[in-house]
Amino acid sequence: MKRNRIAVFASGNGTNAEEIFKYFRNHKYIKVCGVLTNNPAANVINRAANHQLPCHIFDRKTFSDKEKMQSILNEWEVDAVVLAGFLWLIPGYLIKQYPERIINIHPALLPRFGGKGMYGMRVHQAVIDSGEKESGITIHQVNEEYDKGKIIFQAKCAVTPQDTAETLAGKIHDLEHRFYPKIIEQWLMQ
Ligand code: GAR
Repeated sequence: MKRNRIAVFASGNGTNAEEIFKYFRNHKYIKVCGVLTNNPAANVINRAANHQLPCHIFDRKTFSDKEKMQSILNEWEVDAVVLAGFLWLIPGYLIKQYPERIINIHPALLPRFGGKGMYGMRVHQAVIDSGEKESGITIHQVNEEYDKGKIIFQAKCAVTPQDTAETLAGKIHDLEHRFYPKIIEQWLMQ
């Protein structure tokens, strides 16, 4: 069995990243080799350090520089990329370098409530504002458009009249933590 080395891209708190670090810590075939973030203040940097994982912080200029980004990923010998609350659009050169090997989690039931600018609490507020009775998570492959790649997995939760964007975010995070590491594992091992 080929060993799968994954890089985690994240922009914020990193609770999903943390679940991924823990799930794969002693995995026989899948290894998290490092974290990449665009946000120097992201808590995911501390989480990576606590797990003794290397972390690269990059700005827009570096992110658009194919050679620089590829040299980091090649140095870590990355086979697949996992997005965990990463907010920038993935550039075409990365999609080409990792064809069908980039996965994302979105905190709603795509194809609704996705697209540019739809992330985190904005998604939950939009779901509440439109009076939805259910929401959920979508795990999908990444292509060159926001939230448009092939859907791999969805799970649902109820939205009640009492829910606020904050309480809904809590339910969605529970689903994400429960399913994302397992679905990544199935996706890589298939
Ligand atoms: C997660 O809910 C993830 O689905 C969402 O950002 C949150 C990150 O939380 N991603 C998007 O909205 C992407 N469009 P975390 O930093 O605690 O893992």
